[in-house]
Amino acid sequence: MTSPSPAYIEEALVLAQDRLTNDVYRLTVEATTGGSPGQFYMVRAWDREPLLARPISIHDADEGTISLLYQVRGRGTELLARLHKGDTVALMGPLGNGFTMENLHGRVGIVTGGIGIAPMFYLASTLPARSATVIAGFKSTPYAVAALLSLGVEVYVATEDGCEGTRGFCTDIFDPAAFDVVVTCGPTPMMARVAQLCAQAGVPCQASLEAHMACGIGACLGCTFPTTSGYKRVCADGPVFDAAEVIWHA
Ligand SMILES: Cc1cc2nc3c(=O)[nH]c(=O)nc-3n(C[C@H](O)[C@H](O)[C@H](O)COP(=O)(O)OP(=O)(O)OC[C@H]3O[C@@H](n4cnc5c(N)ncnc54)[C@H](O)[C@@H]3O)c2cc1C
Ligand code: FES
Repeated sequence: MTSPSPAYIEEALVLAQDRLTNDVYRLTVEATTGGSPGQFYMVRAWDREPLLARPISIHDADEGTISLLYQVRGRGTELLARLHKGDTVALMGPLGNGFTMENLHGRVGIVTGGIGIAPMFYLASTLPARSATVIAGFKSTPYAVAALLSLGVEVYVATEDGCEGTRGFCTDIFDPAAFDVVVTCGPTPMMARVAQLCAQAGVPCQASLEAHMACGIGACLGCTFPTTSGYKRVCADGPVFDAAEVIWHA
């Protein structure tokens, strides 16, 4: 195992809080710490409760700002959604190992479920123009798709209730044979299916894993999961892993 990642703590000024759907927001803050696609920040917008900061991926970053795209799930993200322009938020990061960019060549398939779309804007904007195709699944109303389209990325949508795109799961409309390499982020069962389809087709796949986190820097071992080469920590060894290395149904 590697030692804890170097981390930066920054009280970042909120520049904008945009509500994209009923429960999905994009928070833009002034921050110089940047990061690479697939890395994340431990975010804290409260004093005492909840006890722990929450991991949120980099949605976009440039020299002076960072954007986070998040879905309100519980207390932490609910408090994040209460921030307004001019407030401050504590960020620790950038943390973890993001996508292995040197292995993303040729036709790149990006398969996402729900808020797993969050890190993909930054990834797609870093890839060569027109090399990426996004296949995004949502329970209902899609979000964050327009921003991807503005990059010139091809986007296919599946919704479980059929309100937009194809009715069903993103895995129903995903054909790994159309790609040289695939990246995925979303609920674990969805990523397990993407990994299985890629393995059957012989297409390499990078998966950004979800886990409950406490420290975010590799110290507490609270986010470990089994791989073909032993237990690994999502926060410090990942969150992005070779999907073939992950033991999905442990
Ligand atoms: C590396 C990483 C990057 C992430 N990036 C984003 C992002 O960009 N945008 C975003 O919206 N979310 C992201 N998440 C998930 C996010 O961290 C959780 O949704 C958040 O911590 C929930 O906190 P809460 O206090 O609002 O909810 P809690 O009260 O802590 O939990 C609410 C519900 O969500 C479940 N839950 C909480 N955390 C997780 C988790 N990590 N995996 C699965 N279920 C969970 C709980 O079991 C509970 O049912 C990321 C997670 C990881 C590990
Ligand atoms: S959250 Fe502590 S080791 Fe990963």
